[in-house]
Amino acid sequence: MGQSIVIASGKGGTGKTTICANLGIALAQRGKKVTILDADIDMANLELMLGMEGMPVTLHEVLSGEADPEEAIYDGPEGVKILPAGLSLSGVQKADPRKLENVLKALIGTADFLLIDGAPGLEVDAVTAIAAAQNMLLVVNPEITSMSDALKTKIVAEKLGTHVIGAVLNRVGFDMTELSKEEVETILETEVVAVVPEDPEVRRAAAFGEPLVVRNPNSSASIAIKKLAADLLGEKYIPPSPENPLKRIFKALFGRD
Ligand SMILES: Nc1ncnc2c1ncn2[C@@H]1O[C@H](COP(=O)(O)OP(=O)(O)OP(=O)(O)O)[C@@H](O)[C@H]1O
Ligand SMILES: [Mg+2]
Repeated sequence: MGQSIVIASGKGGTGKTTICANLGIALAQRGKKVTILDADIDMANLELMLGMEGMPVTLHEVLSGEADPEEAIYDGPEGVKILPAGLSLSGVQKADPRKLENVLKALIGTADFLLIDGAPGLEVDAVTAIAAAQNMLLVVNPEITSMSDALKTKIVAEKLGTHVIGAVLNRVGFDMTELSKEEVETILETEVVAVVPEDPEVRRAAAFGEPLVVRNPNSSASIAIKKLAADLLGEKYIPPSPENPLKRIFKALFGRD
């Protein structure tokens, strides 16, 4: 029996799509069957992040009753199945968000992991995704505005009976004003299950429409996301050994290690 995880946040732009796409791929790299569904009906961008835009049938067609969910599922990176939401305005207008619940329920159990990239806020699509999923990961930034919105989202999840796995603290840097992991855990009353650093490679990967964990598997954000995938599976994560700079120079000079 597979499990479903909605990636939610409350506040927009905290990194849901980034975490959802790369976590899904990292789970697939560990041999799991993964489907990722973009449930951000109005402001979809999973397909852009993965360079998979322009698919003929998307969630919009499914939610307008023109297509079945299976017709909107495509092969993505590393064997991950992707159900894109669609980018067009006309698609947004015809999609009926009330149908989302049945689509999600039909997909749960068709893979080891169904990851749902949630919409920000607490509108009908965001809440429907939270209600339909068995589990939730909250993606938050180390700032107070992110906390209040995440807390509301967590309370909604608990009321709906969705298990909160924990929070992913994303875009962590060295700013003095940032909340610490411990402060976030105290405010949200949930465990921070991953700390993902601010990493310029995230934006670069998105600009090229390539998943970060494939393009830059050893970047700091990649390492944190791949560790989260291992932790979710109860497996051991072995970080890459730091490159010896002398080895690089030797290789450049003599063409061998
Ligand atoms: N760890 C990180 N380091 C640097 N930039 C990041 C990181 N995580 C996300 N970003 C950047 O933050 C922006 C928002 O990320 P993303 O689209 O994943 O957020 P989101 O929560 O899905 O947004 P929305 O609420 O609009 O759906 C993007 O420009 C992304 O490249
Ligand atoms: Mg998003």
